[in-house]
Amino acid sequence: MSLNLIAHPSVFCAALLSLVSFAVSADSHETSAAKASTVLITGANRGLGLEFARQYAADGWQVIGTARSPERADELNALDVEVLQLDVTNQASVDALAGALANRPLDMLINNAGIFPRVRKLEEVSIDDYLRTLDVNTAGPMRVTMALISNLRAGAGKKIINITSGLGSIAGNTRGTYYGYRESKAALNMFTRTLAAELGPEGFIALAIHPGWVATDMGGPNANLQPPESVSAMRRVIDRLTAEDNGTYKSYQGEPVDW
Ligand SMILES: NC(=O)c1ccc[n+]([C@@H]2O[C@H](COP(=O)([O-])OP(=O)(O)OC[C@H]3O[C@@H](n4cnc5c(N)ncnc54)[C@H](OP(=O)(O)O)[C@@H]3O)[C@@H](O)[C@H]2O)c1
Repeated sequence: MSLNLIAHPSVFCAALLSLVSFAVSADSHETSAAKASTVLITGANRGLGLEFARQYAADGWQVIGTARSPERADELNALDVEVLQLDVTNQASVDALAGALANRPLDMLINNAGIFPRVRKLEEVSIDDYLRTLDVNTAGPMRVTMALISNLRAGAGKKIINITSGLGSIAGNTRGTYYGYRESKAALNMFTRTLAAELGPEGFIALAIHPGWVATDMGGPNANLQPPESVSAMRRVIDRLTAEDNGTYKSYQGEPVDW
């Protein structure tokens, strides 16, 4: 047979090409099957976090969903995801998560966990509650990002998605209200910019994204979006991110939001 191929160079070339293309396609098939992208989502037991977990898992991602109380996270446990404990305000809990994930590459971190105390007037402010809001919504994402940065550096995706709010826009704040929450998200936006400047040269994309007004426990029943709509729109934006989007503040529809 080899003699025959040498005698007919065009047949030899075709045979060689088909062998090479078989090897490449077999290899890339193996690679994509073995290396599904991995996303870690905080506050994944309800609301937007649960919907992110549901959609990414349905799409074939390896999903790590965190919950403060995994034993009570029934809807999250029912999905094809890995469930780990995490309270973003508790350093021991953050360290335990990082320990459990040692040497595991992560392609994307979604800092989603948050609280929204409705404090409308200055006289209603409790400084303890105010600091708690900053702790969950601002220091929380910072703690988690710090703890998982080596996992993210080892991953190919290099995306850090901070779920912010339109209420964190300083430019957009013309009517006041929501002391604490607004500051916590404005500071989260600034954290996103700082992170983007530091990590952009390594190929990271850090994004602050506003999910819209969504009917979760936080958004309440009168919201104009349901979680599946908001999350699929945010996933579209996240999917299309390029280096130019590093350090930007966008709506769930991908529109820029004024800082
Ligand atoms: N819904 C909206 O209209 C809207 C609008 C703008 C921005 N957002 C932002 O979107 C994100 C998700 O909101 P959501 O509407 O899904 O809220 P949600 O339904 O109230 O869910 C909040 C999630 O955060 C978790 N969480 C709270 N404190 C935590 C802590 N210390 N450690 C770890 N997890 C904690 C909760 O866990 P537990 O169940 O244990 O409490 C829950 O899983 C938040 O960052 C929020 O600010 C929402």
